Amino acid sequence: MSHAAPRPFTLSARGPLRGIVTVPGDKSISHRSLMFSALAVGESRIEGLLEGEDVLATAAAMRAMGAEVARGADGVWRVHGVGVGGLLQPAQALDMGNSGTSTRLLMGLVASHPITATFIGDASLSSRPMGRVIEPLSRMGADITASPGGKLPLMLRGLCPAIPIEYTLPVASAQVKSAVLLAGLNTPGITRVIEPVPTRDHSERMLRGFGAELTVEDGPNGRIISITGEAELKPQHIVVPGDPSSAGFWMVAASIVPGSEITIANVCMNPTRTGLIQALRMMGADISEAQPRIVGGEPVADLIVRHAPLKAIEVPPELAPSMIDEYPVLFVAAALAEGRTVARGAHELRVKESDRIAAMATALTAIGVTVEEFEDGLAIQGSGGEPLQGGATIASLLDHRIAMSMTIAGLASTTPVTIDHVAPVATSYPNFFQMLDALTGA
Ligand code: S3P
Repeated sequence: MSHAAPRPFTLSARGPLRGIVTVPGDKSISHRSLMFSALAVGESRIEGLLEGEDVLATAAAMRAMGAEVARGADGVWRVHGVGVGGLLQPAQALDMGNSGTSTRLLMGLVASHPITATFIGDASLSSRPMGRVIEPLSRMGADITASPGGKLPLMLRGLCPAIPIEYTLPVASAQVKSAVLLAGLNTPGITRVIEPVPTRDHSERMLRGFGAELTVEDGPNGRIISITGEAELKPQHIVVPGDPSSAGFWMVAASIVPGSEITIANVCMNPTRTGLIQALRMMGADISEAQPRIVGGEPVADLIVRHAPLKAIEVPPELAPSMIDEYPVLFVAAALAEGRTVARGAHELRVKESDRIAAMATALTAIGVTVEEFEDGLAIQGSGGEPLQGGATIASLLDHRIAMSMTIAGLASTTPVTIDHVAPVATSYPNFFQMLDALTGA
């Protein structure tokens, strides 16, 4: 994998960002479009798929379990599915690379098939907790042997027919919700997930689009999502909208670099994903929306972002699920704002591709920002728009979002900032550095 040899990158301050950027396809939707197409009977076509390493790991796994998955010369992916219940025993371990989403969602799929799969991953993924999916999937009958601490490598033997459950999410996690729903796809009867705090709902939207019987109601303890098992999925033509998490880097970059004005085209505006836009607007960011439309069952718009002086805020903790992957870059915005920004209630950041609270506290401190670390977040003293000191080497810790966030911080630093290893950026945003050059005229 590309993570073997360290690939450092050094960035000096650059002038304003100008122009139009189209962000790559949404990572969450890309994973799901491959998985659901692989379970439909017949050929699905996927346009705009994110061709990042995480999604390619999902594609390889679906192939290893019997689906035909191929990219055409036209850039459209074609998938011939095996039908729900039709996944085959993979001949080798499924290598999930850096991808938590591939791992947890595929564990759900395998759990209700009569097959056994071994899941392996890189050092980052192998340190992440899988207990959160092992627990409900074991209740459904899967037999799972994990490494100590509920980590990868792990072996999962599915049960068919599996046992339908009603499961209340103990953590706000779309991956756990999706793992249980996907196990429910091939389980007789109704599998139910109750989510006290809403998380991204791409699985629900797309499963319905594929013809699954899935209902969502509001209950006394949160949203109740019910899926009727032994579903038949019909092949689809999917157009993947642009990833709001990737767009977040440019939103912050244009907001903090004076003179910037950019258009970010084709951004998924699903309300379960727009927390960063809300937080940045509270800080005074100048972000407007144009051409609202529906693409592939998801709201989409173009965003126009202009430089604006930012002010510190208390980030509402209830925004956390809708901006969970955007905190690292929000912390960069906070470092340039006037005053002290406090972001709490984001414990989940500790178990992402890295411990993102510790990683960003260390990284920002190294470039001269005053940071206070809490168990569940950070307080950041902003510079009031003055460039940051810079002049440090940052450890990206196999975490693409730390690497990209600190690159954006480098844009607004007096002395160059080096990121020790930027290869992990390819997991979610393969042409990030080309786009950076294009937008900054470098
Ligand atoms: C994702 C859910 C989130 C997010 C991840 C993608 C998904 O993880 O951080 O990048 O596609 O369902 P959690 O479910 O762990 O919050």
